[in-house]
Amino acid sequence: MADNRPSDSSWEFHWGDSSFDDAADGARDRTVREAASILLADPARTAAASVVGVGKVYRTATEEVHALVDVSKNFPRGRITAIAGPSGSGKSSLLRLLACVDRPTSGSVLVEGRDVASLRIRQRRALRRSSVSYMFQNPIDNLLDYLPAREQVKLASRLRGIRTATDEIERLLVVLGLDHRLRHTPHQLSGGEQQRLAVACAVIGHPAIVIADEPTAELDSAAADRVLEAFRDLRAEGVAFVISSHDPRVVEIADHLLRLDHGRVEEST
Ligand SMILES: Nc1ncnc2c1ncn2[C@@H]1O[C@H](COP(=O)(O)OP(=O)(O)O)[C@@H](O)[C@H]1O
Ligand SMILES: [Mg+2]
Repeated sequence: MADNRPSDSSWEFHWGDSSFDDAADGARDRTVREAASILLADPARTAAASVVGVGKVYRTATEEVHALVDVSKNFPRGRITAIAGPSGSGKSSLLRLLACVDRPTSGSVLVEGRDVASLRIRQRRALRRSSVSYMFQNPIDNLLDYLPAREQVKLASRLRGIRTATDEIERLLVVLGLDHRLRHTPHQLSGGEQQRLAVACAVIGHPAIVIADEPTAELDSAAADRVLEAFRDLRAEGVAFVISSHDPRVVEIADHLLRLDHGRVEEST
């Protein structure tokens, strides 16, 4: 499994019911108020998202894989956090927990101060829609084939429950160097342009956190640079960017770093 994509489409991943296991909800039922009061004195409360002592174990017929071991990190708004580490170190597992599409085996995941495990399915779906964006590594997986660029961003905003003025969308596309591509459909765009359009769709509508799993892996070096510039230029939007990558340039543009090795924190800044 190269990038741990779920078997369903990216569309379903973003907006449909996730494969999140709800059977355990009752067992871990904690009200949001209780969770919030526990966090009152905690800096995690003010971060866009946090993981607190998170562990993830995958159990297959033949083995138990400890993909994450006691990982804690705050992801502040207006900052880029790079998730680095070799293949198999647990990057995608961590991102899937933050995206609220998988649950930790131990520890907590907080999004906007809310303990994701304490939420009922409708609350969690609402939280994902309003607060979480997820970008796949392959640019085209983040976009709808038939929609021109500007409409693509407009739809992303509407799905988040926010009506964004056309001016505002065009301003964003100017920042991303896509102002000459407003009416182009994804197949008329280069890979780098597609991924910058995906960045626009991810940040529109004021989510708390934008999660990108190796967003430059499919791009040539120049296109990758421009996508990274896009993340950097959009920091002022106040979103917490969490970007996993092998690419050392991601670490260079990041404000914070979480380096994993065999699921453990090797470096955290
Ligand atoms: N669904 C799964 N079932 C079993 N093992 C998994 C599953 N997903 C990931 N793993 C294992 O967990 C470890 C971490 O994987 P992953 O989070 O994809 O790392 P990375 O994204 O850093 O390459 C790896 O050993 C991987 O094989
Ligand atoms: Mg991965």
